[in-house]
Amino acid sequence: MLEPTVTMQEKTITPAPLPRSPQETPQSAAASAAAIRVSELSSWYGDFQALHSISLNVPERRVTAFIGPSGCGKSTLLRWFNRMNDTIAGARCTGTAMLGELDLLARSTDVVDLRRRIGIVFQKPNPFPKSIFENVAFGPRLHMRCSKSELQDLVEWALRKAAVWDEVKDRLHAPALGLSGGQQQRLCIARAIAVGPEVLLMDEPCSALDPASTLAVEDLIFELRQQYTIIIVTHNMQQAARCSDQTAFFYEGRLVEVGPTEQVFTKPARKQTEDYVTGKFG
Ligand SMILES: Nc1ncnc2c1ncn2[C@@H]1O[C@H](COP(=O)(O)OP(=O)(O)O)[C@@H](O)[C@H]1O
Ligand SMILES: [Mg+2]
Repeated sequence: MLEPTVTMQEKTITPAPLPRSPQETPQSAAASAAAIRVSELSSWYGDFQALHSISLNVPERRVTAFIGPSGCGKSTLLRWFNRMNDTIAGARCTGTAMLGELDLLARSTDVVDLRRRIGIVFQKPNPFPKSIFENVAFGPRLHMRCSKSELQDLVEWALRKAAVWDEVKDRLHAPALGLSGGQQQRLCIARAIAVGPEVLLMDEPCSALDPASTLAVEDLIFELRQQYTIIIVTHNMQQAARCSDQTAFFYEGRLVEVGPTEQVFTKPARKQTEDYVTGKFG
């Protein structure tokens, strides 16, 4: 039996939205404190070096987009942040990645706790083969001590926050796999936020969705940035432009350029970035 690590008293389940002005512009990314600080992170799969000395600050409560052609290392970097590479034989890294005082890459770091603080949403929605309710209740049951009614409130809060409550409230005990792809992805986002993470990692979260669901998830990402630090990997330039504050462009395992999204898309500092964002390659 796992010891609960967080009690409901310590955990805010209905946090008030941050007082953030709606006029706030994406360019303010640089003004926000860093949630994750990456320094000289290099990474290998066996002999193959997938990342070369990446240094990057991910601003708090902003959306950072990772863009770049397939195979440039976006997912590899994202997976180090919540240690999803640990299970890949031959995967190793050097350098540092910190979430506040937490050393994300240290062997001694409690990975279960780390994954409560840094959640991940994958390309293909992957609800558990359980009910809608049980999908969201799963994490809180593992990590928190809460009563039945607190759990119900928390599930409702997370589903509302993930903008899917109205569509599922009358069938909470129906199988999650019966939902549409877009609803499943929002359910997975609800499942990720139910444990109170600080950071949400999203690896191409819309690429398996139809255009209408994509827009719903993009709106949600933009909304969630008021409370969470979000990193989204995307192949879709319009998506990066629409929903991110900061954009990092990677090429062949190197970080070519990072800056406010508008600047990266309209006045990139590097020719390579310009060629990519204008569709000359990729
Ligand atoms: N499990 C793995 N084993 C070996 N090589 C891998 C593995 N995963 C990714 N790679 C390689 O690492 C490089 C970066 O991959 P990845 O991070 O998935 O790129 P991206 O997400 O930008 O498409 C690619 O050359 C890819 O083939
Ligand atoms: Mg990838």
